Amino acid sequence: MTTTARLLDPGVLALLASLPPYDPAEAGRLDARLRAEGLDGELVATLLTQLRLRTRAREKFGDFAATMLFTEDGLQQATRLAVAAHHANRYRAAGCRHVADLGSGIGADSLALAGLGIRVDAVEVDEETAALAMVNLMPFPNARVLHADALTLDLSPYDGLFADPARRGPTGRVLDPAFWTPPLPAVLALRTRIPELGVKVAPGIRHDDLPGDAHAQWVSVDGDVVEAALWFGGLADAPGRSALVLRHGRPALLATAATPDASPGVAPTGPLRRFLHEPDGAVIRAGGVATLAERLGATVVSDLIAYLTSDSGAPTPFAETFEVLDHFPYSRKRLAAHLAARGVGRLEIKKRGVDVVPDRLRTQLRLRGDGEATVILTRLEGRHSAVIVRRTAGGQGTIDP
Ligand SMILES: C[S@@+](CC[C@H](N)C(=O)[O-])C[C@H]1O[C@@H](n2cnc3c(N)ncnc32)[C@H](O)[C@@H]1O
Repeated sequence: MTTTARLLDPGVLALLASLPPYDPAEAGRLDARLRAEGLDGELVATLLTQLRLRTRAREKFGDFAATMLFTEDGLQQATRLAVAAHHANRYRAAGCRHVADLGSGIGADSLALAGLGIRVDAVEVDEETAALAMVNLMPFPNARVLHADALTLDLSPYDGLFADPARRGPTGRVLDPAFWTPPLPAVLALRTRIPELGVKVAPGIRHDDLPGDAHAQWVSVDGDVVEAALWFGGLADAPGRSALVLRHGRPALLATAATPDASPGVAPTGPLRRFLHEPDGAVIRAGGVATLAERLGATVVSDLIAYLTSDSGAPTPFAETFEVLDHFPYSRKRLAAHLAARGVGRLEIKKRGVDVVPDRLRTQLRLRGDGEATVILTRLEGRHSAVIVRRTAGGQGTIDP
C-alpha cells in the first residue's frame, strides 16, 4: 500500500487531526511516542511529513492548511489561496457555473472555485495527487475529483476551464511551454471549444509569445511575483496586459498595455529628485514601468533602469518609495567612508544596472556601529552612483493613488 493510500484511511486521518502542530524541537519525541503506541516507522514518517507540510502551507492557505493534505511538489506548485480567490472571482463574474480545473494538483484553485459556490471538477492525472485533492475538497459538495487526463476529457459539461500546467520535470524547470504538462499549445487550443479559459503560466513568459486575444496578468504578493496568467473570453474585460499587486491582502490593479504584445513604451530619463521608487516586480514584468512613471509624474534615473524618481512621495501600491538622503558617484572606498562616518553597522543594499554582489560588498565594507542605512547602487543618467535612501511610509504601498 502506498503511503498516500495509508493516509486516506479514516482512522489515520483522525489520528493526524489529533496531533499537535509541527514543532521541530518536539518532532523526535512525537516520533518516539507514536512508535511506542505501535505505529510502524513508515506511517510515523508520513504523519510527521504531513504535519511539517501543513506548517509550511500556512503561508499559502492560512487556517485551511490545518486540515489539508500535501505532497512536497503539490504544495510547491499550489496557487496560494489569496491568488486562487482572484482566479475564482473571474469565473463567478463571467457567470460560469461548471468549471473544469485541468491539472488540479492538490486542488488549491478548485478549492477557491468551490468556495464561491461554483461547481468544479478537479481533473488530475497523477493518482496520488488526485487522492489528496479529494480529501482537500471533501468539505465542498459542489466539487469532485476526476483521476483523468485533461486532454482527453469530455469537455461538454463545462462552461469554464482553468489550467495550471506543471512547469517542472525530473531535471528541474522546463522553459519551453511546449513541454509543460499538459503542453501550453494544447491547453490554449481548448478555447476554440470553451472560450472561458484561464491558464497559469511562468512569470517569465515573453510578451511576443502571448496570443493576441489574451489578457495577460502578472500577480505579486507582498512584493514577490508569484505568477502570470492568461485570461480569455468572458474571463477578461479585454485583451492586453496588467499587473495585480496584492499587499497585505489588498489588491491594486494597473493596466499596462491594450494588446498583449504591445511594446512597453519608454519612460523618459531625468535627474535624481527627492524620491526614488522601485516598481513592483509584477509592474515590471507586465511592461508597466513607463505607465507607472506617467502616473507618478516620474522619470527613470537612467536609460533602461527600472528605478523611478519624482518630487512626490505620495504612496502607491505599485512601487516601494524611498526618500533620497544623499548620493554620490559610486566607489567602494567612498561608500565605506560615508558609512563609517555615520556609524552604520547594518546596511541594506539594493542594486540595478551595476555589477555588484551585495553580500560580498557588505563584507568588504567592514561595517561597524549601531546605525542602519539603505543604499541603492545604480546608474544616475549613465553614471554609476550610490544613493543613500530612507523608506517612506508610503513605500509600504498600501494606498492606491
Ligand atoms: C502546477 S500543478 C497544479 C497546481 C494547482 N493549480 C494548485 O494550485 O494546486 C499541475 C498539475 O497538473 C497535473 N497534470 C499534468 N498533465 C496533466 C494532464 N494531462 N491531465 C491532468 N493533469 C495533469 C500534474 O500532475 C500536476 O499535479
